[in-house]
Amino acid sequence: MDDKRLAAEEAVKYVKNGMTVGLGSGSTVDFMLHALGKRVQEGLQIQGIPSSKKTEKLAAELGIPLVDFSVTTHIDLAIDGADEIDPSLNLIKGGGGSLVREKVVDACADELIIIADSSKVVSALGRFPLPIEVLTFGFEVTAQYIKNLGGDPVLRRKDGEIFISDNGNYILDCSFGQIDDAAALHGKLVTLVGVVETGIFADMADKVIVARSGEIELFQKKQE
Ligand code: 5RP
Repeated sequence: MDDKRLAAEEAVKYVKNGMTVGLGSGSTVDFMLHALGKRVQEGLQIQGIPSSKKTEKLAAELGIPLVDFSVTTHIDLAIDGADEIDPSLNLIKGGGGSLVREKVVDACADELIIIADSSKVVSALGRFPLPIEVLTFGFEVTAQYIKNLGGDPVLRRKDGEIFISDNGNYILDCSFGQIDDAAALHGKLVTLVGVVETGIFADMADKVIVARSGEIELFQKKQE
């Protein structure tokens, strides 16, 4: 079985009756939605809050009841993917361009479970260029500020067109080299004029479920 699917199916075991579930985005999450949809068809009663238009569409097609934040601001469990995961469970996300909504959903969940195949596990963040969502207005100025902080911003394109996020913004993919202090870098970037959000998810994941060659590995946040 595909490792992404294996990790996704493992995570769905944590979903219990009555939960409000944050639904992440990406191909690993798509496997999770299929597994969750199956459990819903079997009688599981939950409601989901999707973190992207793509996830919303697939979840609806699979029969997963959906609500938005006008109904509740409390999420019991969020399940999401990642582009990189370091040994402290800090993440880079946003490869699919949904980082802002993912962060809103993941941040208000009582528990965040990240699902991935082993290719996402790294000894230090930074090989994957950091996605940063920025306003379209004056993005060249914002890009210059990011350069001043040591980044190398590249405007994301898809199929030859500038990529537009679900929020109507641009994404700058920014190589910083190895990121030694993810929280500090996020803190500097997020205060720049024009930056909406960064793809650094520092100290947010409670559990990371990794599938490696058909075997599950579970990493848990260290208790303070
Ligand atoms: C989208 C994300 C995804 O979770 C991340 O890119 C992982 O994607 P995939 O599961 O397709 O490898 O952050 O914004």
